[in-house]
Formats: sequence, structure tokens, C-alpha cells
Amino acid sequence: MVRKYDFLVIGSGIAGMSFALKVAGKGKVAILCKTGLEEANTYFAQGGIASVTARSDNFEKHIEDTLICGDGICDVAVVEKVVREAPGQIAELVGWGVNFDRDADGNFDLHKEGGHSEARILHHKDNTGAEIQESLVRAVRANPDIDIFEQHFAIEILTQHHLGAIVKHTTPNIECYGAYVLNILTNHVLTFLSKVTMIATGGIGNIYQTTTNPTIATGDGIAMVYRAKGLVEDMEFIQFHPTALFNPKERPSFLITEAMRGYGAVLRTQKGVEFMPKYDSRSSLAPRDIVARAIDNELKISGDDFVYLDVTHKDAEQTKEHFPNIYKKCLELGIDITKEYIPVAPAEHYLCGGIKVDMDARTTINRLYAAGECSRTGLHGANRLASNSLIEAVVYADAAAKHALGLISSLGWKEDIPMWDDEGTSLNEEMVLITQSAKEVGQIMNAYVGIVRSNLRLKRAHDRLEILYKETEGLFQRSVLSKEICELRNIINTGYLVIKFALQRKESRGLHYTIDYPKKNEHLSLY
Ligand code: FAD
Ligand code: SIN
Repeated sequence: MVRKYDFLVIGSGIAGMSFALKVAGKGKVAILCKTGLEEANTYFAQGGIASVTARSDNFEKHIEDTLICGDGICDVAVVEKVVREAPGQIAELVGWGVNFDRDADGNFDLHKEGGHSEARILHHKDNTGAEIQESLVRAVRANPDIDIFEQHFAIEILTQHHLGAIVKHTTPNIECYGAYVLNILTNHVLTFLSKVTMIATGGIGNIYQTTTNPTIATGDGIAMVYRAKGLVEDMEFIQFHPTALFNPKERPSFLITEAMRGYGAVLRTQKGVEFMPKYDSRSSLAPRDIVARAIDNELKISGDDFVYLDVTHKDAEQTKEHFPNIYKKCLELGIDITKEYIPVAPAEHYLCGGIKVDMDARTTINRLYAAGECSRTGLHGANRLASNSLIEAVVYADAAAKHALGLISSLGWKEDIPMWDDEGTSLNEEMVLITQSAKEVGQIMNAYVGIVRSNLRLKRAHDRLEILYKETEGLFQRSVLSKEICELRNIINTGYLVIKFALQRKESRGLHYTIDYPKKNEHLSLY
């Protein structure tokens, strides 16, 4: 079956839904998501969204904090753009019904997080993401120009390749005509033809064994664009959140927001010793890469599996008021955080790199835009400043909408795309072949491509992944399509890209730390 839309949006997080709301009214819009509309990384965001709103703050300070965190390779023009456009985008979110907490005078109540010189994090208690996601879902569902396709999995974007052309990374003017999409409920592959396509498929957390990301985060958009010969960059810069709740039975790992350290919580070894002052003058509020590496080092020294986060010295009622979800969650596990330390360990959290886009959110493939965590704008450089990703996603969704609206009237549909061909495939009776391989990818990435890397570990990961790649491609060619086989293929492709970029960077910078090149190569710094 063929469906035709002016705008095809793959992903229903903050990036995809805000883009859809901005272009609706100027054409018909389809939003796809592979589970339900609500299930996205966006829903899980806790700390909040960064924007200059306080009188004591200014754009220059937010710009400087972002540049310092990015460790010399942020794109300064992009940082300026995101920071300066942030307040306007916050106003738009409020217009869509997002309710940020305010103080008694009606001003935004602001949190402070690691690397920020000012309190500038707008939030809704400690579940900002859920507030944003639910507000956008309501707005999208109420919009008559937006058709919603839940349980629809984008498999491949359509390009000249599907018309028989040989497409390479060097081919000029690759164009996107839409996507092949698996309806998970019927197991049919649909052809979605579009004039403009937006990839907003989010993060990659599930290429790792331990992650704060929900299970939808399997790098699908990045893998699809890479296979279609679009450019991908900065894949080595993976942010590990220092303080995921240590609870090995739970996946994804529950996050203990950095805002708690902004509020005064401190990190301690299992013996109760506060260790961060010996690593950084900013102590527990140092940027995440420093805190995650410090914890990693402490765990290696002690042989322990976790350290503690201590908020017991703060006023108990205030702690409950600021962090009601964390309080409730820990209590369910038998930990009263107002009286007891919280066991925490680092977990994969965020990818700074991804699909390369310009300042209009255009990928290197014509008619294809990308925004949100799957994209690489240049904002984060080698390390993302806390709470800068939600704001980046809305600023770039806005840029894409403005650019696409200027283009849409000159574009048509490509009618001669063939239907998905599954001749010669058969039902895969052994799901264990897929689930076991997915587990192996996670183990390989955790063991060899984590917070501290080396050439030897990366090479080992590469070789192990190559075996899984060959097995999986064979299985993919032979099998009737399923979400599971597509995701396995995508996590292998994405893991491979992380390793490839990590091997290419012969220095330590920001989130990429390797014992073979422990120093930064200043010649590679951009400013
Ligand atoms: P997502 O919100 O992840 O949405 C991705 C969408 O793509 C989903 O709808 C999914 O179904 C769909 N999708 C994926 N693949 C396919 C496919 N093949 N076919 C169809 N659909 C597909 N950032 C901050 O700025 N502040 C915070 O406080 C903060 N806290 C966080 C806390 C946690 C626990 C986590 C995990 C992240 C946090 N982040 C935070 C990061 C931030 O939430 C994400 O970077 C951001 O929400 C990503 O939004 P997105 O729109 O790009 O993708
Ligand atoms: C957190 O609340 O600690 C996460 C913030 C972020 O990832 O930006």
C-alpha cells in the first residue's frame, strides 16, 4: 500500500512533534512512531530545559558554559543560535500547554545543573519530560492536519537507490522520497511517499547493556541515513550519566537527576568518603564527563559496583517537594532518600553526534531533515551541557520547519518507487538468534566502548561486532521482517559507527577518553 504526505515525520519525541505542529496547516503531515506516541526519550527527561530567563543571567554566560563543556569543538555559530533562540522556543512550548514550575512571583523556578554558571533550567518538578511529551501529544492529537501512525517502524528511507541507481557516500544530490515502513500489527510493509521527510528518531542507548534510555532508543534513524549514504559525525562522543540508580534488575536504568547535585547532594564511596573534591574544584557539580570518569575510577579502585549519592543533609520536606518521583521510586525499593544514601553508577545516557545537519537542519541528503538526539548540529562538541538537548531539539525543529515551508510548493512525489520486495524470505522461527545477538552487542559495547577506552578494547569490539554483523545481515536477507531483526541490524550499524569514530580520534577530548592518547590535541581545537 502507498500513502502520500507532504511531510513525513519519523519519531514522536519533542523534535518530531514540535516539527509536525509547526508545519501542520501548510500540508498533510504523517507522524510515525514504533510503539505508542508517548514512549520516547523525551518522556523520561527529568532535570529540565536550559534557557536564559533570569535577570541575573545572560546569553553570553549560557554560550560560554556550552563552549567550555564542549571542550573546544563546538560550532560557535550553532551555540549562539540555540542559546539566543531558546527563550522564543520556550514561549512556544508554553503556548502548546507545557506547564513549567514558577515561583511565588510568577517567574520560572530555575534549577542549576553541572557546568552551568547560573540557575537556568526550567522544569516541571522532576518529570519535565513527561510534562512536555504529554502536552505535545495532546496538541498533535487535536490537530486535524496530522495523521498518527503508532506501531509503525521505519525500515529504510527511499532514495535513487530504490530506482536502481548506484548511490555512494560521494554521490552528489542524493534525494529522499519517503520511507518503507513496517506496520508492526499487520506485518505489512507500506510505502510512505513524502515531499519532505524529518528524521527525529532519538538516541542510541540500547546499543549498551546499561542505559537510561527507553527501549525505543536503538539508533534507527542514524543507521538508516548511514545506509542511505548520508553523513554521520561525532559518534564517539557518548555521554554516560554519572548517577543512574544502581538496580541491576531494572532496564532502562532509572535516572537520579543531576539537579539533585545542583540542589546540594554529594557523591560518596561505599565507605562514606566524599571523593569528588580530589578530581575537580567544582566537586560533585563538575561536568558529567569528569564526574562519570571519577566514579569509574573509584569503582575500579574499590572493586565496588556503585557509589552513593547523599542528600540526607538537606531539608527532608524540601527534598520531597523538589524530587517527588525520585523519592517515591527509591522508597518503593526500600530507600528513604531523606535518611539513606542512594546507590548510583554511570549508564549510557546521550549521544552528542549523529546525522550531520546544517543550521537549517538539512542533512546531506536533499529533502531530508533531522532534529533532536539523532542529529549532530555542532552544539555539543565533545560533551553536552546538561539540559541543552531538549532546547536544541525544538530550535532545530523550528529551523527545519522554516526551511521546509519555503521549499514545499516546489516539490512533488516520486511515483515510480517499487513496493517492498520480500520474495524468498521465510518466518524466523528462532527469536533467540536475534535476542541473544542484541544482548551480545550490549555486552561488547559496555565492556570495550565505555567511559575509558583503548585501541585494544576498541579493536576487540570491532572484531566481535563484525561477526554479529555478518550473521545478522544473512538473517535479515532470509527472514520475514520483524521489528526485532530491524532493530538488531540498527544497533549493530550504530555500534560500528561509534567504534569507527572512536578509533579515528587519536586524542582524549570531552567524552572520548582513551588511555592510548590521554591528552587533548590542541591543534584540533576550533577556538
Ligand atoms: P525521542 O524523544 O527519543 O523520540 C524518538 C521517537 O522516534 C520515538 O517516538 C520513537 O518511537 C521514534 N522512533 C525511533 N525509531 C523509529 C523507527 N525506526 N520508526 C518509527 N519511529 C521510530 N535532556 C535535556 O535537555 N534535559 C533533561 O532533563 C534530560 N533528561 C533526560 C533523562 C533521561 C532519563 C533521558 C533518557 C534523557 C534525558 N535527556 C534530557 C535527553 C533528552 O530527553 C533527549 O535527548 C530528547 O528527549 C530526544 O528527543 P527526540 O525528539 O530527539 O527523540
Ligand atoms: C538530568 O536530569 O540529570 C538529565 C539532564 C540531561 O540529561 O540534560
